[in-house]
Amino acid sequence: MGDRRPRVWVSQPLFDDVVEPLGQHFDLTTTGEVTAYTPQQLAEQLADVDGALITLNERIGAAEIAAAPRLRAIANVGVGYNNLDVDALSAAGILASNTPDVLTETTADLGFALLMATARRITEAERWLREGQWGQWSFQTMLGADIHGSTLGILGMGRIGQGIARRGALGFGMRVLYHNRSRLPQATEAEVGAQYVDLDTLLAQADHLLLVLPYNASSHHIIDAAALARMKPTATLVNIARGGIVDELALADALANGRLAAAGLDVFEGEPNIRPELLALRNIVLTPHIGSASQATRRAMVQLAVDNLVAALGKGPDAGNPPSAINADAVNAALAGAAGAVAKKTDDAKR
Ligand code: GLV
Repeated sequence: MGDRRPRVWVSQPLFDDVVEPLGQHFDLTTTGEVTAYTPQQLAEQLADVDGALITLNERIGAAEIAAAPRLRAIANVGVGYNNLDVDALSAAGILASNTPDVLTETTADLGFALLMATARRITEAERWLREGQWGQWSFQTMLGADIHGSTLGILGMGRIGQGIARRGALGFGMRVLYHNRSRLPQATEAEVGAQYVDLDTLLAQADHLLLVLPYNASSHHIIDAAALARMKPTATLVNIARGGIVDELALADALANGRLAAAGLDVFEGEPNIRPELLALRNIVLTPHIGSASQATRRAMVQLAVDNLVAALGKGPDAGNPPSAINADAVNAALAGAAGAVAKKTDDAKR
């Protein structure tokens, strides 16, 4: 057993040339197929591995951890990690990591692209044209909302929120308001051109509201019927965070009944299944969770996840210190607690 090479499972096809160097340190199991694993299949894949490189499709909770006695590291290829039960991972001494920073600007670009497509009705106009409905140029065809000079609201002001704020304030002359669990330092607010407000003010004053906050129990359906009712009926809502942040039925109702002008959604509560109530709407732009999907950024995310996994399993230049660990302190505390318990047991046995 002492000579066994550590084993690593890569859950989805990523970039082969970025993933293959893992083979220098580990026995690798990869797949060439995009796969939707059942919990049972997931447990089977994890049963005998020391580490796993996974995506947001794979949910790792207490049951998967219980089925994976050797598991020491999970590298999530993505910045959001609501697919991981971090407390359970920490308690089991499993180091988890994600891929922040490398995707910030690409995701902010997509947020802005979706905002512009939604406010200026780009996909709706294209559909109409392709359907052969454009009889003659007319003055009132496809009137949308201005981006420049309007008020941009940002809910969630981490790195991606700040990237969007910069684009709005510096690129489009927008008045940028934000709400976040904690307020940014004044110097950062000045640098990104954003002003802190409470949630009600944000909802009431935004001409365009972008959602960029992490998904957890306190952000679940934070945009519900009551929140939508506080927004301007002329406003645009864009969600590039996680689907569960928005009550999609309340949103569909507001869009269908003129209580909100338009929405752009890159994420969905039951993705990849989309509610028929959303699909039926004209004033909505829908994209398949492509926030970070540029060639360069997706490669950089996989590289960072590989570096995290190598380090978390004690190899390479950062051995023991993955560049973007999520739960290093909690794992160290859990391992110290376990070592303390073993030492105490040994001491007790000696008495
Ligand atoms: C994608 O949604 C990510 O969290 O990276």
